[in-house]
Amino acid sequence: MKPRIGLLCSGGDSPGMNAAIRAVVRTALYLGYEPVGIYKGYEGLIEGQMQLLTASSVSGIIQRGGTILGAGRSPRFLFPEGRQKAYENLQSWNIQKLIVIGGDGTFKGADTFLQEHPDLQILGLPGTIDNDLYGTDLTIGFDTAVNIAMEAVDRLRDTAAAMGRLFLVEVMGRDAGFIALHTAVASGAEAVLVPETPTDFEAIVRILEQGWQRQKTSAIIIVAEGDEAGGALKAAEELQKRFPRYEIRATILGHIQRGGSPTATDRILASKLGAAAVERLHEGASGAMVGVQRDEITLTPFSKAVKAHSPLNPLLLRLVEILSL
Ligand code: F6P
Repeated sequence: MKPRIGLLCSGGDSPGMNAAIRAVVRTALYLGYEPVGIYKGYEGLIEGQMQLLTASSVSGIIQRGGTILGAGRSPRFLFPEGRQKAYENLQSWNIQKLIVIGGDGTFKGADTFLQEHPDLQILGLPGTIDNDLYGTDLTIGFDTAVNIAMEAVDRLRDTAAAMGRLFLVEVMGRDAGFIALHTAVASGAEAVLVPETPTDFEAIVRILEQGWQRQKTSAIIIVAEGDEAGGALKAAEELQKRFPRYEIRATILGHIQRGGSPTATDRILASKLGAAAVERLHEGASGAMVGVQRDEITLTPFSKAVKAHSPLNPLLLRLVEILSL
């Protein structure tokens, strides 16, 4: 009987997860394993929703958003009884090696699971649009989310300029401002509000005033959903009081950022990481996230990957300020 590798996606889906699934399945087959798809994350593992996958199970999915395995958060996996059931299902399917694709919640779950069952071997792939994991320069889905947000802001810029308005655009990022900062630089926004830095409305008013003086026809401010201002709607109210010259509108991009076809960057990243995860499992690695740093594949223990994310690039923060002149 061939050895098996189980595979699941957990937490929020992200574009590129399908490319990662394809890479895991095909590399597993290449190395002589039987890949087993586990549906709906840890919940599906508890329920035993699993199926053997073949090379053709993953045909035609590299360009598709979402995940063919389904994703989701499992409250039952937070408890020992749920994890015990999950372990029993892995045993009955003869699976000892597991790859989990997701973000910090996924890796915390995997870490606890491994402590209880050290006979298992688990590796993680960073699948989240937020880019908020330590130990990888990029997470799968981030580039696509930034591109979607940038395109949306380009459209908003047209109507903002036509109507002479200020738009506040809220992007995802509960705890991290990566999507907001990268979108701001890519779309030439006047300012960006992120959870990592204090929000200074006075400074924003100075930037808006300066633009107004040189007869700028519009202004765009990108707001990360986790910023202390409390999102784009609240920030818009606050700014309207302090800077009544512009008529203000707020737009919340929401889950639109999580859907659609992944960019080439995300497909390539997912393919590289998916293949590397299988190879490293094959070599005996466990308990870590497989990431990419300076173009090198690296392993970061789960406990470290979830502790804190890397800081925002100060150069990009400064660029938003300098280029908003
Ligand atoms: O972690 C990814 C993410 O998309 C965050 O940016 C966002 O805050 C959250 O998930 C939304 O979660 P849900 O899909 O459960 O509403």
